[in-house]
Amino acid sequence: MRQIILDCDPGLDDAVAIMMALGASEKIEILGITTVAGNVGLDAVYQNARNLCSLAGREDIPVFQGCPHSIMGKHVRAAEVHGSDGVGGVILPSSTREHDVMHSVDFIVDTCMNAEDKSITICPTGPMTNLAVALIKAPEIEEKIREIVFMGGVAFGPGNCTPAAEFNIFADPHAAQIVIQTDIPKVMMGLDVTHQTPCTDDRLNELKAIGTEPANAIAAMMEAYRRLVMSRDHGQNDCMMHDPCVIAYLLEPDLFSGRHYYVEVDTHDGVSHGRTLADGLSVSKKAPNVKIMEKIDDEGFYQLLYKSLRDLG
Ligand code: BDR
Ligand code: CA
Repeated sequence: MRQIILDCDPGLDDAVAIMMALGASEKIEILGITTVAGNVGLDAVYQNARNLCSLAGREDIPVFQGCPHSIMGKHVRAAEVHGSDGVGGVILPSSTREHDVMHSVDFIVDTCMNAEDKSITICPTGPMTNLAVALIKAPEIEEKIREIVFMGGVAFGPGNCTPAAEFNIFADPHAAQIVIQTDIPKVMMGLDVTHQTPCTDDRLNELKAIGTEPANAIAAMMEAYRRLVMSRDHGQNDCMMHDPCVIAYLLEPDLFSGRHYYVEVDTHDGVSHGRTLADGLSVSKKAPNVKIMEKIDDEGFYQLLYKSLRDLG
């Protein structure tokens, strides 16, 4: 059983990641969902995360508000991909859970401080502001973290936010650099691997065929996602399941393959701002600090997603 904190900015693909994790409760225990401004603003992502738990019948899961902007004060958003509400206009049941008033950063710190060494897995699927601030506030939590499995970056291909940078890292490069430079074991689900997971017509139909309320909502979100991505990119790009790759890795790591590399984030202004620079040929001789996933069994991934949604009921 993995004990995880899901640090996210729902977000259409974050929504799928949340549902997938909730549907795998025999293998994943979500200690809390911490939200961070990213795809849309903080109020919206927080409310979306609460409502998604409600959709899954899991209002017992605490959901926290975190940082409203990046460490350097940037507000980078992706409403053109996720809709202005972050969930593509899909109406979700309103959560009736009392608001959890603790800050996301404090929840991360407190949870880790009260945990056994190397027991907590942190799963960022948005900008890594909350985790970076938690690591600054209480560096001793490093000991408590088993692994950080994050969606973000791209090592050997083009960015999706700028030619050099992926959205989550571009939105807060300083936070990503702080997290990546720690000694905590890290797995990077970057565009190298997430771009191998297109939500095709057939896959969308499989999602619709599940027929439960959460699966129907996810299918409606994927339809919105496809529509938004198509209209933004003039039909050039597919709609990818970025964030759920993080959950799939926790459930079935053998779906993925990759290697350890030394990675640095470009925090300087300029055309490479937010780039995750991987030392592919080890020319720097610096010790590898991230395991970068490069290949996924995409059909296996989708089968796992359908199973989790079916198990969610
Ligand atoms: C990442 O950016 C966000 O828009 C998605 O939710 C995902 O986390 C993909 O680049
Ligand atoms: Ca996200």
